[in-house]
Order: sequence, then structure tokens, then C-alpha cells
Amino acid sequence: MFIRILGAGAGGGLPQWNCGCNICHAARAGLISPMTQSSVAVSADGTGWVLLNASPDLRVQMEATGELHPTGVRTSPLRAVVVTNGDVDHIAGLLTLREKTAFDLFATPATLKVLSDNPVFGVLDPDCVKKKTVTLEKPFSPVLDLEITAYAVPGKVPLYLEGSAFDLAQTKELGEQTIALRIESARGVFHYLPGCADIPDWLCERLSDADLVLFDGTVWADDDMLQSKTGQKTGARMGHVAMAGPQGSLALLAGLSSRRIYIHINNTNPVLLPEAPERAQVIAAGWELAHDGMEVAL
Ligand code: MLT
Ligand code: MN
Ligand code: ZN
Repeated sequence: MFIRILGAGAGGGLPQWNCGCNICHAARAGLISPMTQSSVAVSADGTGWVLLNASPDLRVQMEATGELHPTGVRTSPLRAVVVTNGDVDHIAGLLTLREKTAFDLFATPATLKVLSDNPVFGVLDPDCVKKKTVTLEKPFSPVLDLEITAYAVPGKVPLYLEGSAFDLAQTKELGEQTIALRIESARGVFHYLPGCADIPDWLCERLSDADLVLFDGTVWADDDMLQSKTGQKTGARMGHVAMAGPQGSLALLAGLSSRRIYIHINNTNPVLLPEAPERAQVIAAGWELAHDGMEVAL
């Protein structure tokens, strides 16, 4: 199985257009690598590819990835897109894919409704782009030799669908709005969780069959944004569990024996700075940090 990290960043990317935090500044100064927004490509054989989420940076990401270049006049190795939630960073790239080349678009009924409720996604010609309903816990094969099972993880509805009465209790709901993907080929199993608000015992158990876990690395601590004076929102309020702390992913996923890589890393996360003690802690715990263009093989 071939896995390409197209975009390791969270929504906004690194640097983010309106952010002058020290980390975005370091990226602009060329001191650390920039990151595009959250997307992964996966293939069983290196010829037919499945996108896991379609970021607003998709056009640039595909150009940067030779395996995703056209194989002929108006033919593409892209076979399918699987969307894990309706967040802007995971769906806006669908608009880039509007040029009348066929692929299958997989999402849960809740996320398909988000797309069908928004007429701009009608630019995806239904004669070319076939919408396929993902049923939780029911395996599907977007390409030969890859089997994907979607399962609900704690998460919230997209920001733009939050009502005015939205509160913290609604950030950890289990349903079709935030899914994880278990992806299996003859070579192994990987789990993809770019957004996860909580790590219950059942999730640790579920991840234990993995050879590789790509996990939500949005925030180091729940108060990253307050610390960097970039905003008031906590990780919990955004539907993302922190790396640090007794209920964080470093502690609760410490028992996994698989390769573990943080993805969907927000530009405010101090682990992005080479000299940060937080980064040293992540590496010492056996985790890797994804970067754009990272290649992983199983
Ligand atoms: C998130 O992951 O929390 C969202 O992508 C935030 C956003 O809408 O930018
Ligand atoms: Mn996001
Ligand atoms: Zn920033």
C-alpha cells in the first residue's frame, strides 16, 4: 500500500493568510516547511489512487505529486475521493475536480447532504462523479485491493453548521458527521483520523489492529490558541483532542505498537518549531510528524 501525505496542515495551512504568529512567521521566513491543508492519497498498486479528503490546496498538491498526474489526454489515476467530514478543509478541493473526469465520491449520508444542500457542488457533473453512500461499519472498495471501513469517532458538525446554541457537549457526538477510516490491503492496515475529539477505551482497542495510525495533531494543548494569542477557541471546542495532558493522544495512545504519525497539524501547534520541548516530547514518545510530500509504504 502506498500512502502520500498531500497536506499535513489543518484548516488554514501553514502559514495561514491572516496569521502572524511566531510559527507562521517562521514558515514565511523559510525556517520551517510550509504545510498545505489536510489530504492524503492512498493506492494499493501505485496506479489507481484514492484521495482521503479534498483540501482547498488540492490543485497544487496534485501537481506536486507525480503519481497523480494525468496518464493521457484527460485521463487521471484518481479513482475516488473519500470524505471524512464536511469541514471546508476536507471538501473545498472537490470544486477543483469539476473538469468532467470520472471518479467516485464516497461519504456518509450526513456529509453527502452537506454537499447536496450547497448548490456550488452541483458543478460536479453527476454523469462523471458518482456519489456513493458510505454506511458506517460496512466495508467498501473504492479501488481493487483496498478495503475501507468507516466508523464514527467523537466529533462535531462543521463550523458553518453550528447553530447559535452550540455548546461543548455537542463537540464529541458520535455519528455520521465525523468518521475515521480503517484501510486494509494485503500489505496491512492503517487508520486515518484527521479529526477526533476524544479517545475512549473502545477507540484504543479499535486502533490496536493497525500497522499505521495517522492521527489528529491539530493542537498540542487544549489552549494552544490562547497561548499564542491567535484566538479564544480551545481544541475541545473545535472538536480536536490535544496531544498533551492525561486525556491527550500521547498518553492514551501510548500502548499502540503501530507506527504513529500526527497529521492535520494546526499552524499554532508548538511542535512545528524545531527547538520546541513539545516537539522533543512527541518524538521521544515514538510519534512522527507528517509533512507535505511524506511517503509511507505498508
Ligand atoms: C477543523 O478541523 O476544526 C476545521 O477544519 C476548522 C475549519 O473549518 O477551518
Ligand atoms: Mn480541519
Ligand atoms: Zn499562525
